[in-house]
Amino acid sequence: MGMVKLVVMMMVVIAVLNPAQAQPEAKFNCTTTNATCRAVIDYTNPNGTTLSYIQTLFNVKQLIDILGANNLPSNTTGNYSVGPNKAIKVPFPCKCNNGTGLSDQVPVYTIKTGDTLYDIATTVFAGLVKYPKIQEVNNISDGNTIHVGDKLWIPLPCSCDEVGGVSVVHYGHLVELGNSIEGIAEEYGTTQQILLTLNGITDPKTLQAGQLLHVPLKACSSNVRNDSLDYPLLVANASYIYTAHNCIKCMCDSTNNFKLECEESSELKPTNWSICPTTQCSSNVYIGNITATDSCNQTTCDYAGYTSNNISTVLATHNTCAAAPNGSGPSSGATRSTLQGWFWSNLFIVIHLIFFSIYLVW
Ligand SMILES: *[C@@H]1O[C@H](CO)[C@@H](O)[C@H](O)[C@H]1NC(C)=O
Ligand SMILES: *[C@@H]1O[C@H](CO)[C@@H](O)[C@H](O)[C@H]1NC(C)=O
Ligand SMILES: *[C@@H]1O[C@H](CO)[C@@H](O)[C@H](O)[C@H]1NC(C)=O
Ligand SMILES: *[C@@H]1O[C@H](CO)[C@@H](O)[C@H](O)[C@H]1NC(C)=O
Ligand SMILES: *[C@@H]1O[C@H](CO)[C@@H](O)[C@H](O)[C@H]1NC(C)=O
Ligand SMILES: *[C@@H]1O[C@H](CO)[C@@H](O)[C@H](O)[C@H]1NC(C)=O
Ligand SMILES: *[C@@H]1O[C@H](CO)[C@@H](O)[C@H](O)[C@H]1NC(C)=O
Ligand SMILES: *[C@@H]1O[C@H](CO)[C@@H](O)[C@H](O)[C@H]1NC(C)=O
Ligand SMILES: *[C@@H]1O[C@H](CO)[C@@H](O)[C@H](O)[C@H]1NC(C)=O
Ligand SMILES: *[C@@H]1O[C@H](CO)[C@@H](O)[C@H](O)[C@H]1NC(C)=O
Ligand SMILES: *[C@@H]1O[C@H](CO)[C@@H](O)[C@H](O)[C@H]1NC(C)=O
Ligand SMILES: *[C@@H]1O[C@H](CO)[C@@H](O)[C@H](O)[C@H]1NC(C)=O
Repeated sequence: MGMVKLVVMMMVVIAVLNPAQAQPEAKFNCTTTNATCRAVIDYTNPNGTTLSYIQTLFNVKQLIDILGANNLPSNTTGNYSVGPNKAIKVPFPCKCNNGTGLSDQVPVYTIKTGDTLYDIATTVFAGLVKYPKIQEVNNISDGNTIHVGDKLWIPLPCSCDEVGGVSVVHYGHLVELGNSIEGIAEEYGTTQQILLTLNGITDPKTLQAGQLLHVPLKACSSNVRNDSLDYPLLVANASYIYTAHNCIKCMCDSTNNFKLECEESSELKPTNWSICPTTQCSSNVYIGNITATDSCNQTTCDYAGYTSNNISTVLATHNTCAAAPNGSGPSSGATRSTLQGWFWSNLFIVIHLIFFSIYLVW
């Protein structure tokens, strides 16, 4: 009996000495050779921050790219304040190389006085990368010798692979206290099994707050041609993007069978064209117009991509009655595996320790 108590006590001591348990490294396989795509990752700041700060930190080209990824109104300004520990989705370009996906040479961070690789990884980039990875990709032989003013590539994990034969937007989700695999799967329209497989997790109870979880986001289908400069145009559920030099705004949501909805943008100036080229399917039929509807079939003028000098359109018929693709059926009888389980099991040990102390005092 005493031996058992001693073992329990040693476990408690270890838990106390090592409160911030090492987060498991995020698994992001990316096996599509040399593929590039858009990915998103959560960023949180314990002090609160602004969208401008996030845009600068991650070298996001336009504020609207962050607004779209988070479905924030397109007139939101950069000084919009982000509360402490509130997650903001940051979009970035991803590239597959040798089986793993990494952000494509961005973000670039300039070393400041007093920085260590550890601080840059854990504090500045919120633990989204591990410091040895920064050291490795920047070819730094001695991690203790870094120079103020030097530029570091921060390799964010990502992927461009299909999941279950379907194109998705890959998302690095920061697990919050109380999250369960089941709840996350439900929230993002995927299944527990896909999340477990993708993340190499065998026991859902091992999920930890602050862990980066690889989540595939459902994307809307589009009619963008494969020779378009924005092909494949992947827009995740509950988000929007501006494309074709900001001339076109495309939105994805669960209404309309996850079909991408595009329209001429009115708010933004084109970036590479002086004015936006016309976007007609035929005279007086513009992108976004519905030309015919019967009980189930709807014909619309769709965005079909852009090249250096024009925007393509296509008249396409969509079946609005088809059953929505279902990948998120509730899994009855699934064990509920929240983080609370972890705390309760530790509470159990603490109670044991208290009894043990009383026993010692006696
Ligand atoms: C992938 O990219 C690397 C370097 O950019 C190149 O050497 C290699 O040939 C590419 N592989 C394929 C299959 O395109
Ligand atoms: C938050 O504020 C503390 C105290 O000012 C500072 O040490 C820390 O670096 C800040 N964290 C971030 C991510 O900016
Ligand atoms: C943004 O636009 C909405 C309408 O789309 C308007 O109600 C709101 O006041 C605008 N916000 C700002 C900050 O301009
Ligand atoms: C936020 O930014 C907008 C435009 O960039 C500016 O008009 C507004 O005054 C700013 N608000 C604050 C509180 O700084
Ligand atoms: C590719 O990855 C394998 C292990 O996954 C590693 O052994 C090999 O060195 C890597 N190759 C390059 C060029 O990084
Ligand atoms: C990495 O650094 C080593 C020694 O510092 C050097 O020999 C090697 O060429 C570097 N590799 C790259 C890719 O810069
Ligand atoms: C799509 O996004 C909406 C709004 O955030 C959410 O309620 C819904 O569950 C999502 N559906 C899928 C399949 O991701
Ligand atoms: C990821 O890659 C590793 C090594 O190649 C492999 O063992 C693992 O099964 C892969 N995971 C998935 C989800 O494909
Ligand atoms: C692009 O699409 C066209 C027709 O839509 C098809 O014939 C062609 O094979 C496709 N090219 C690639 C590289 O997929
Ligand atoms: C858009 O213009 C910028 C400079 O104004 C240029 O660097 C970039 O390559 C152009 N992009 C395209 C797709 O033409
Ligand atoms: C067609 O689209 C144009 C441009 O978005 C819009 O101004 C017009 O009202 C639409 N027409 C119909 C009939 O929906
Ligand atoms: C609707 O479209 C389907 C195929 O997409 C077709 O079989 C059917 O005949 C169409 N119905 C009408 C009324 O056009």
